[in-house]
Amino acid sequence: MKPRSVKTYAPATISNLGPGFDTLGVAINSPGDTVVARRRSEPGLGFSVATKNAGVPLDAKKNVASFVASLLLNEKHPSFGIEMILHKSMPVGSGLGSSAASSVAAAVAVNALLVKPLSKADLLPFILEGERLACGSAHADNAAPSLLGGGCLIRSYDPLDVVPFPVNPSLVWIVVHPNTEVLTKKARTILPDQIPLRSAIRQWGNVAGLIMGLGAGDRDLIKRCVEDVVAEPLRAQLIPGFYDVKKAALAAGALGCSISGSGPSIFAIASSMQKARIIGTQMAKTFRLVANIESNVYISRTNGIGARIAWRKGA
Ligand code: HSE
Repeated sequence: MKPRSVKTYAPATISNLGPGFDTLGVAINSPGDTVVARRRSEPGLGFSVATKNAGVPLDAKKNVASFVASLLLNEKHPSFGIEMILHKSMPVGSGLGSSAASSVAAAVAVNALLVKPLSKADLLPFILEGERLACGSAHADNAAPSLLGGGCLIRSYDPLDVVPFPVNPSLVWIVVHPNTEVLTKKARTILPDQIPLRSAIRQWGNVAGLIMGLGAGDRDLIKRCVEDVVAEPLRAQLIPGFYDVKKAALAAGALGCSISGSGPSIFAIASSMQKARIIGTQMAKTFRLVANIESNVYISRTNGIGARIAWRKGA
């Protein structure tokens, strides 16, 4: 029997991981977005947003959650409609995969109410249309890990080929979100269409090495590979105090540090929870000192599950 109502949760993600622009991402435990959805007899989608965060589109045509939910309903055209509330707790333009988390939570909720639900992997193309709506590009490096959990390599976009990669359980992620906004759309327009071959070679080496290092928990290899010669040098200017915060993270023992997604959040990797707390504190302190910006610090091991159904009711 199918549930009549569900509550879903989709977690934040760190994408790019330094060198892996549009190709690497991992899921963390929190923050995340929540959707509550229920079947209704009237066909179509009823949508509302509960949030204290600024900049979240309330219009169903502009919000990624309702957009993705409608795409899925149009494809599956069930005999019932759906009433959906997005509980938006993630800040917009944060570099934490906020739009992806909303789209994922919505897609998983609608799917759970369908008579013949799709597999999680088959939901991804719908969710990527939400990413296209949010920032003009259907990049999957936030959406895939938020949906599927763990580390995801987007090996190819055409055809879409998402390959999970292991992250050693000893590793801890730190994300520091300064109280400022960078819109992904803008952060993408400042990147070049082409890069020099020598940059590409360095980046390829780092991506491959990082995947190996994360899987093995090889601290020295991770240290060498969290290096981005393509996006970080251009995007750093969008984040006040970026290089000071990065320096503080590395000085406090981080195995690597770079921009989370398109920023302004900055991520770091630690070899223990205790070190992660020290690194996070130093990063936030540096943001305050050099840029006079307060931040939120998130510390998490890799979230191996991704989006989940928090509860389901009725039959
Ligand atoms: N890979 C994307 C970018 C992630 O860097 O633009 C955006 O969150």
